[in-house]
Amino acid sequence: MHKYKLISVLGGPASGKGTLCSKLTNNFKSIVHISAGDVIRSQKNLAPEFIDMMKNGSILPAQFVGNLIIQYIKENYDTDKIILLDGFPRDQANYDYFCTEMSKYFDLICILVIESSNCTMIERTMSRGKLSGRADDTVETCLKRIESYYNETNKIIDLFDSVLIKRVSGEIEHENKTYDEVVKHLNLSNE
Ligand code: C5P
Ligand code: MG
Repeated sequence: MHKYKLISVLGGPASGKGTLCSKLTNNFKSIVHISAGDVIRSQKNLAPEFIDMMKNGSILPAQFVGNLIIQYIKENYDTDKIILLDGFPRDQANYDYFCTEMSKYFDLICILVIESSNCTMIERTMSRGKLSGRADDTVETCLKRIESYYNETNKIIDLFDSVLIKRVSGEIEHENKTYDEVVKHLNLSNE
């Protein structure tokens, strides 16, 4: 079976993942952006315990989220697309699921790690919260999500082959430089 090329985009809350992904999808027609969080939020009948977990910044069961992502991608895109998957894998259980199940459908070509300071992540979460109405865009939950990023996500990033990992700045003043760096690193073209 032909597999999708996959770029996993990881970083703390409001670290700049979405901004970079939108810019890439706007400029390269072969790329699509899937946000794990958005796929979960788009579920109409999400179990109340999962809604509570999201409100608290906790990570949902890997099989549930992983299945949703696989299903969503298979239903909407052909394998000629490069998938920018933002927010997965995020912890050890995600990582295990990623290696055993998702690898059947995806060839991981890169892990983009977006690095922003805690200050930037908190400030951006606060300003996003005013518009997003997301229950987890509060200072309290943002701090928990930052902690979970350092404690859970950082650990699993180190489990991947280091040649796959590309770390870039998510700070707003580096936005253009980061974009250029990523395009060059991924060797993207519109041909
Ligand atoms: O990536 P984003 O900030 O949109 O994720 C929002 C929330 O979605 C996370 O805080 C978590 O509750 C849930 N999520 C998850 N597993 C993932 C990605 C997101 O449970 N792999
Ligand atoms: Mg997001």
